[in-house]
Amino acid sequence: MGIRFARCGRVAAVALAGLIVAGCATGRLDATKPVGPEARDIDVLMRVSGWMAVGVGIFVAAAVGTIIVKFRAKPGDDPDDLPPQIHGNRKAELTWTIIPIVLLVFLTVWTLPTVFALAREGDGRTIKVEGQQWWWQFSYDLDEDGQFDDIVTANDLVIPTGEDVNLELHSNDVIHSFWIPQLNGKRDVVPGRVHNWRIRSDEPGIFYGECVEFCGLSHANMQMRTIVLTPEDFERWKQDQLDGQAAARAALAQGSAVAAGATLFETHCISCHVVDGTYESAADGNANLLAGIAPNLTNLMSRTAFAGALYETYLQGPDGEYLRDSGGNLVLNIAEMREWVRNAPEMKPARADNQQGMLDFSEVLTDQDLDHLMAYLKTLGSPPVLP
Ligand code: CUA
Repeated sequence: MGIRFARCGRVAAVALAGLIVAGCATGRLDATKPVGPEARDIDVLMRVSGWMAVGVGIFVAAAVGTIIVKFRAKPGDDPDDLPPQIHGNRKAELTWTIIPIVLLVFLTVWTLPTVFALAREGDGRTIKVEGQQWWWQFSYDLDEDGQFDDIVTANDLVIPTGEDVNLELHSNDVIHSFWIPQLNGKRDVVPGRVHNWRIRSDEPGIFYGECVEFCGLSHANMQMRTIVLTPEDFERWKQDQLDGQAAARAALAQGSAVAAGATLFETHCISCHVVDGTYESAADGNANLLAGIAPNLTNLMSRTAFAGALYETYLQGPDGEYLRDSGGNLVLNIAEMREWVRNAPEMKPARADNQQGMLDFSEVLTDQDLDHLMAYLKTLGSPPVLP
């Protein structure tokens, strides 16, 4: 008896530890706090079917428990005496057939239209989304000429509030899956196919997401975020993006460190990276990469994250709030960005030898080179517009 209790205690302790660990989410990916109508539809459906399952589970557990206790062998029972057999009891069989049918039909009638409605295209602006090993690119067609070349960014998907944004999902290599849990469910991103996906948020904020289809070495590091801005802030962001090219070109004319950095950039970076209006030679398909594309670095400083959104561009406090210097400006996470330029594969598993990910420049660039490159990169774009 004592041994049995000890074992029960251990099992309970493990179960309790499991529950505690399960509650230790970082809170960045949270499907239980939907903000968009699509995510809310999914959330309601999940909760209703979850509570139905809980109800069925409790009923079955209670029935099994009652039967075990009520019909157990009692002292003085004849061991050869069989209990009354109810095989073929129509009432019992109809009951345990009809109840599940009613529950499942109820869920089907609700789920099917919801699933189809979720897959409908949004009637707001379309943004082109490209997944590749291992980061996301977002392109905007502002002049509506069918070319998604007016703003090209990475990691940060910036949208205005109150608009059914239509995402046109493409893959440049293998199958990925796009998921921003607070805005909508998961949608596969398949090479050779275009999938549309709708997101909407009526409140500004930053909502985090992640690739959810195993796509190779750095699948877990293929993250992204949606920056939802008020329509006014969104216009400001758009204007910043358009002004950024000229500002970056103007900065080239000043300071020798920036010019030295630009020369290094020309030597080492432009076979893969584009800076619109300055270095366009690495246009899609020319880049020496498997997917034929590396992040476009125009307006790099306006992104809140780099390296597949694995690292923050600007320093944050313990609660994720952005730190500011005495002048009220965001503080660049220069240490990690410099280290990323020096030796990217060490900070994010990649296979540069297989043309997947950035090369290791630790043997190529000196400390002074890195300082110059950082001076140049800092001129690419203004700080992000934050919600
Ligand atoms: Cu892309 Cu996993």
